Amino acid sequence: MSVVTTTMHGDIAVLTIDNPPVNAASQAVRQGLMDALIATEESKPAAVVLTCAGRTFVAGADIREFDKPFLEPMLPDLLNAIEAATRPWIAAIHGTALGGGFELALACSHRIGAPSAKIGLPEVNLGLIPGAGGTVRLPRLIDPIEAARLAVTGKPIGAEEATQLGLFDSIAEGDLLDAAIALAQDAANKPLPAALLTRQAPDVERSTWDDAIAKLTAKARGQNSPHEAAAAVRDALDHSGTDALKLERERFMRLKGSPQSAALRYIFFAERTVGKSPRTKGVAPRPLAQIGVIGGGTMGAGIAAAALLSGLKVQMIERDQDAANAGAARVEGILGGSLKRGLISEAKHTALLASFNADSNYSALAEADLVIEAVFEDMDVKKQVFKALEAACKPEAVLATNTSYLDVNEIAASVADPSRVIGLHFFSPAHIMKLLEIVVPNNVADDVLATAIQLAKALRKLPVLAGVCDGFIANRIMSSYRREADYLLEDGALPHEVDAAMRNFGMPMGIFEMQDLAGLDIGWAARKRRAATRPASERYVDIPDYICEQGHFGRKTGRGWYLYGEDGKPTRNAEVEALILAESARKGITRQSFSEDALMGRILGCMQSEGTAILAEGIAASREDIDVTMVNAFGFPRWMGGPMFMKDA
Ligand code: COA
Ligand code: NAD
Repeated sequence: MSVVTTTMHGDIAVLTIDNPPVNAASQAVRQGLMDALIATEESKPAAVVLTCAGRTFVAGADIREFDKPFLEPMLPDLLNAIEAATRPWIAAIHGTALGGGFELALACSHRIGAPSAKIGLPEVNLGLIPGAGGTVRLPRLIDPIEAARLAVTGKPIGAEEATQLGLFDSIAEGDLLDAAIALAQDAANKPLPAALLTRQAPDVERSTWDDAIAKLTAKARGQNSPHEAAAAVRDALDHSGTDALKLERERFMRLKGSPQSAALRYIFFAERTVGKSPRTKGVAPRPLAQIGVIGGGTMGAGIAAAALLSGLKVQMIERDQDAANAGAARVEGILGGSLKRGLISEAKHTALLASFNADSNYSALAEADLVIEAVFEDMDVKKQVFKALEAACKPEAVLATNTSYLDVNEIAASVADPSRVIGLHFFSPAHIMKLLEIVVPNNVADDVLATAIQLAKALRKLPVLAGVCDGFIANRIMSSYRREADYLLEDGALPHEVDAAMRNFGMPMGIFEMQDLAGLDIGWAARKRRAATRPASERYVDIPDYICEQGHFGRKTGRGWYLYGEDGKPTRNAEVEALILAESARKGITRQSFSEDALMGRILGCMQSEGTAILAEGIAASREDIDVTMVNAFGFPRWMGGPMFMKDA
C-alpha cells in the first residue's frame, strides 16, 4: 500500500501520509506526494487537504537517508511543485511539524493546526539548516527576525504562537480534519494567495538585524549551524526567492557533508539507541505509582521533585523530623521555582504538594513501588538504610541507590534478595539533568532492570546502562581526566589555561571551575577513602589536598582553585599558582608550555583511553553509551559527537 492515500470528501481531496513512526519525508513519501499532486492537478478537486496518520504531521526529512545520495524526487522540487499547484492545499497539522515537515506545510497555500500542534525548524540541532525553502519562504510569510529565531534556535513553538505570528490561518476547534475540510471549502471559493517564493521579502535594517542575530547566536559556542541558519535567512532577504532557494540548498548540502553534522546526527540516533537492553525485551516492568526517596539533601530533593513533576507520588524519609522538614523545604523550593517560571500552574503546584510527604519513619514506605536511596556516600550508612528498607517495604518493591562511586554489588548483597537492587545514578540538579545512569549489578532481575528503564521514561530522562565499577561510566571518565588535568598542572599548565582550553573546545566549563562549583571536599573525601588501596606506583598530585587542608573548598568558601569575590566570578589565585610551581620544582619536573590544542589533546586522549577500557571491561555496551553520557553529564560538545566518536572519526 502506498504511504500516501487519497480519499474524496465531497469535492475535497484528502491526502493522508502514513509512514510510522513519525511520518518522516522519506523517498516513498516524496514520491507518493508527487504522484498525488499530479493526480489532483488532473482530477481538479475543489481543494486538497494534506494530513497525516498516527501521532504526528511529518516530523522532518528522513535523517537515515542523509548518509546516502538523495533519491528523486528531491524535497525542494516537490515543494516548489506543490506551491505552484492550481488548487488550494491545506496542511492539517497535529503533533510536530518539524524541519522538512514544516517546509512542506509552508509550501501549502493554507495551514491549520490542532491546539496541541507544534512547529519548528530543528535542523540546526543536526548541524544543518532547512534545505527545502524553510529559510526562504518563512521570512516572506512572517516577521523575518521571528523567522530567524525559529531557524537559528531550532526551538519549536505551539499553535497559539504560530497563529499569532501568522503561520497558521487558524487553530481547529473540534476535529482537525473537519476543520481543515471547512477551511478548504472556503479557500476553494477565493483566489489563491500569492506563492511565498514569488513574494518580495521585507527589508530589515542591517544594524537591527545584526543585533537580533547576535542575541540569537550567543549560546552557539563552537557550533556552526546556528550562524549558517542566520546567514541563510539573511540571504533570503537580500535575494529573489528563486535565487535564495539555490543558495539555501548549496549551504544545506555543504553542511550535510560537514563533520559537525555527522557528529550531531550520530548523537541524535545514539540518544535513541541507549537504554535499550536485550534483557528487557518482552519483560513487563513492575508497577510504578509511588516512589520512596531516602535522604532529602541535594540529590534526594531533586529526585523527589523530578518524580513529582512527572506525576508520581513521593514519600521522602530523613533521619529525623527536623531533617525531614528541611528536605521537604528543598522540594517545595524546587516546585515553587517551577511555579514562578510558569512551568506549572497554581492548581498543578497544589496537586504536586498533595502528592508529597516527608517523614522520619520508614513505615511510611509500605506502599512504595520503588525506593531511591540518596543518603551520605558511606557504605555503612547505605547498608543500614537498605536493611531498614528491606524491613519496611513490600517484597516486590525495587530498591535503588544513587551512589556516585560505591560498589552496588556490595550494597545488593546486604539484603536477602539482591535481585531487587539496582543503581540509579542521577546527576545534579536531578530535576533538570536529563541523564540517568542505570547501574546494573550482577544479580539484578530482568524486570527490575525493565522497571528502572520505565522510570527513566516516566521521568523523561535519558537512560544509559552501566556496569558496576568505581564511578561507573560518567564519574570514572571524569575522575580520569581530572587526574590528567592535575598532571598538566605539575607539567607546566595553570588552572585558568586548562579551563580556557576546555571552554574554547566547547565544554560549558573547565574542570577546575567545575570542581570549585561542586566543592573540593567531595573529591578530597574520595581520595582519602582510596588512599589505602592506591598503588604506590601511581602518579599522585598533592596540590588539591593541600588546598583542602587549608579549608578552601571552592566557591562555597570563597577560595579554591580560584578566588571568588562579591560578584561570584572566579579570578586567578596567586597562592595556588605559586603552590603549583613549587610542586613542579619539588618533584624535579621541568615545566613546559602547552598550546590549547596540546592541553585538549592530553585531556581527550585520557577520556578516550578510559572509554576504551570501559568498553573492554563491558562496563558500557557500546561507544554510544559513553558518548551520550559525556554529552549529557558533562556538556561535552554535541557537535563533536563525544570522545569515542571523535576517536573513531
Ligand atoms: N528521520 C528518521 N527517523 C526519525 C526521525 C527523522 N526525522 N525523527 C524521529 N525518528 C525516529 C527515531 O530515531 C525513533 O526511532 P526508533 O524508535 O527506532 O528509536 C523514532 O523515530 C521515534 O522518535 P523519538 O524521538 O524517540 O520519538 P518522540 O516522540 O520522543 O519525538 C520527534 C518525536 C519527532 C519530536 C523527535 O523524534 C524529533 O525531534 N525528530 C527529529 C526531527 C528533526 O530534526 N527533523 C528535521 C530533520 S532535517
Ligand atoms: P547531601 O549531604 O546533600 O544529602 C544527604 C542527605 O541524606 C542528608 O539530608 C542527610 O540528612 C540524609 N541522610 C543521611 N543518613 C540518612 C539516613 N540514615 N536516613 C535518612 N536520611 C539520611 O548529599 P547529596 O549530595 O544529596 O548526595 C547523596 C547521595 O547522592 C550520595 O551517595 C552521593 O554520592 C550521590 N550523588 C550526589 C551527586 C551530587 O552532585 N551531589 C550526584 C550524584 C549522586
